[in-house]
Amino acid sequence: DPAKSALPTPIHKTATIKKQIEEATRQNLLFKNLDPETREHIYDAMFERNVMAGECIIKQGEPAELFYVVIHGLFCVYVNDTFITSVGTGGSFGELALMYTNPRTATVKAMTNGTLWAVDRATYNRIVTKIAYNRNTVY
Ligand code: CMP
Repeated sequence: DPAKSALPTPIHKTATIKKQIEEATRQNLLFKNLDPETREHIYDAMFERNVMAGECIIKQGEPAELFYVVIHGLFCVYVNDTFITSVGTGGSFGELALMYTNPRTATVKAMTNGTLWAVDRATYNRIVTKIAYNRNTVY
């Protein structure tokens, strides 16, 4: 029962990283409608992933689990091998993975070495469910 499982152990972040994550997700549909407590727990759960120039972070058509915030680096988005846009510091990608179980809608490649902070769908859902459950429980 996901509502009864514990919240994930928070992963330490510097104040600067936390602020960057907050700013990058402020306008994001998956975050802006969450209450502050839930949002805090999701930020706490996010983990760091360092990537190298040339690395393929997301492959179009593959199963999706992770949403990424770009803290450092430049990333290019391709649909059917056609360049669509680039995403840099302060941006994010992979949010469709948090909403749907659909395959990835685009390929995302690192143009430079970079730093991403990520959260997976199961964790995101677990936190949202857990906090809603706690709130509705009478002790
Ligand atoms: P997702 O489908 O999980 O994985 C690929 C990501 O690329 C997608 O989420 C979006 O974050 C991003 N993406 C897909 N299509 C576009 C687009 N047309 N413009 C900008 N970003 C896109």
